[in-house]
Amino acid sequence: MQTTNRTATAVACANIAFIKYWGNCEPDSRIPANGSISMNLAGLESRTSVAYSSNLKADRLFLGGEPAPQAVLERVSRFLDVVRTVAGIQGFASVESENNFPMGVGIASSASAFAALALAATRAAGLDLPEIELSRLARLGSGSACRSVPGGFVEWLVAGCEENSAAVSIASPEHWELVDCVAIVDREHKRVGSTEGHTMAHTSPLQAARVDDAPRRLDICRQALLERDFEALAAVMELDSNMMHAVMMTSTPPLLYWKPGTVTVMQEVIDWRSSGVPVCYTIDAGPNVHVITLADHASEIIGRLKHIAGVLDVLSASPGGPARLITE
Ligand code: DP6
Repeated sequence: MQTTNRTATAVACANIAFIKYWGNCEPDSRIPANGSISMNLAGLESRTSVAYSSNLKADRLFLGGEPAPQAVLERVSRFLDVVRTVAGIQGFASVESENNFPMGVGIASSASAFAALALAATRAAGLDLPEIELSRLARLGSGSACRSVPGGFVEWLVAGCEENSAAVSIASPEHWELVDCVAIVDREHKRVGSTEGHTMAHTSPLQAARVDDAPRRLDICRQALLERDFEALAAVMELDSNMMHAVMMTSTPPLLYWKPGTVTVMQEVIDWRSSGVPVCYTIDAGPNVHVITLADHASEIIGRLKHIAGVLDVLSASPGGPARLITE
């Protein structure tokens, strides 16, 4: 086994799922129960540096300059073990990661963080993996991270419970000028994170129906994206988000992420769309609402959202590119 002292830094965008990943058929290697489709979020990024050193006695992890909690370090260390095995190297690593978006705003940092980590850790280990293999690797750190490796609009492909599951780009960032306006209604740290939530999905009697119907929703969503059909996209995106939250609410124990402000924004968005504005919502494992619109309508929608009582702030992002290397 070789030891290495190389360093690499990578940047990856967060992503918002239009068709959601919720529940695994194989939790350890994050083989999802259903495929999913997402949009990378330009400018909402994690930047991660990995430096292997023969002098280290253990892996180290700093998040935003601070030593990471033990459980997070262990998750990253398990991921680095996979990279070390694939690369045939030994030696621990010092990992520094930071997000340029605030925590607790309904944007999962694990997707961008593990996508950036996968790229930085493999390059520093001397590997230059094809994008699909990098996506597959990132999946082992966080499922949704596999969708932050390719650029633009991305589909996480699933065929049964196969080990090779990974994500591919289905359209470039320039394909369609959608904007995600994130309405922040609550900044509290969520009590049940996605990893734990996935393990509960199968306890809902609705999960089997959600999973069985997923190929149909994926087809509609993919086609709506490729044809830039906002009306079709809006309908399937809201249906899919509502189905995931129905599963969450009917799991044992039940998970209810919505706050009063969540429902207010959902109702406003439905009203705006029925008056002809191209806008729809989707909600991840938290109370904040991702309001999707077309670039021409984004400033109007942001203004409207800011006027809703209970909306604390609004962030916005257009379609983002793939994970990229900064230095080697
Ligand atoms: C609700 O990818 O965060 O955002 O694999 O345990 O890291 P882990 O889970 P994660 O789950 C994302 C769940 C979601 C839906 C989605 O992004 O598809």
